Amino acid sequence: MAPRYFTPKSDDGTVRVLQLTDCHLFADDEKDLLGVNTAKSFEAVVNAIKEQHFDYDFIAFTGDISQDYSVKSYQHFAKQISILEKPVFFLPGNHDDGPLMYRVFEDLGVNIAKNVITPKWQFVFLNSEVYAVPHGWIQRKQLDYAAFCSNRSPEQHMCLLVHHMPMLVGSRWLDTQTMHNFDEFNTYIHRINGVKAVVTGHIHQEFDETVRGIRYIATPSTSIQFTPKSNDFALDNLAPGWRYLNFNPNGTVDTVVYRLKDNIFIPNTDVEGY
Ligand SMILES: [Fe+2]
Repeated sequence: MAPRYFTPKSDDGTVRVLQLTDCHLFADDEKDLLGVNTAKSFEAVVNAIKEQHFDYDFIAFTGDISQDYSVKSYQHFAKQISILEKPVFFLPGNHDDGPLMYRVFEDLGVNIAKNVITPKWQFVFLNSEVYAVPHGWIQRKQLDYAAFCSNRSPEQHMCLLVHHMPMLVGSRWLDTQTMHNFDEFNTYIHRINGVKAVVTGHIHQEFDETVRGIRYIATPSTSIQFTPKSNDFALDNLAPGWRYLNFNPNGTVDTVVYRLKDNIFIPNTDVEGY
């Protein structure tokens, strides 16, 4: 797939990105996920971003757009995100139907480029989805693609985006759903020139750790939140959120998580899984 070349607004080459993730939309937008109407919480996040006048270059969406693998859920997403009037790049999560979403979004004009190249940074959107199961697996050809992108544009720092966090996060139930071959992922990306950051969804919570010089970042969902470090499945009452990222020309990343104020999206905490 052809790369998308992108000129950030900032003169020094800083790329500013809004990350949104895990909106879990249904075909029926009245449906809820464990007590949270995901269409309404996603709409509230989009409206909050619009009202706060964030200055950014593009949106990165890191998977689980759908909760029911439906064409309509992707149509709802495309309509809602278009309110922000910014380019959107995405990748599939474990609740998505990857081939379907690429087909639907291509028809709706959502950008399906998997490599976004700017003067100082490039972004590679990888697929860790294993159809209809919660855990992830990175195929060798995905890693080879990241290496290919690095060889094609060796001057840029690289940010990899992928749905599953390639490390354990200290939450026993969630760690069973991790990227099962994360050792292979991490070994490989250290052999690729320029990888500075890995940005993920899936864990529905804020996460930011640096391991062997690479920054691993995950972000609250626009729908339900998982309680960090919980051994058993547990939902948090924290508000839906999103993340603002500054990719600096020197290869560092500055980032802040935002959440909705006056949270009305309280999940049903009696449930034991999802
Ligand atoms: Fe999710």
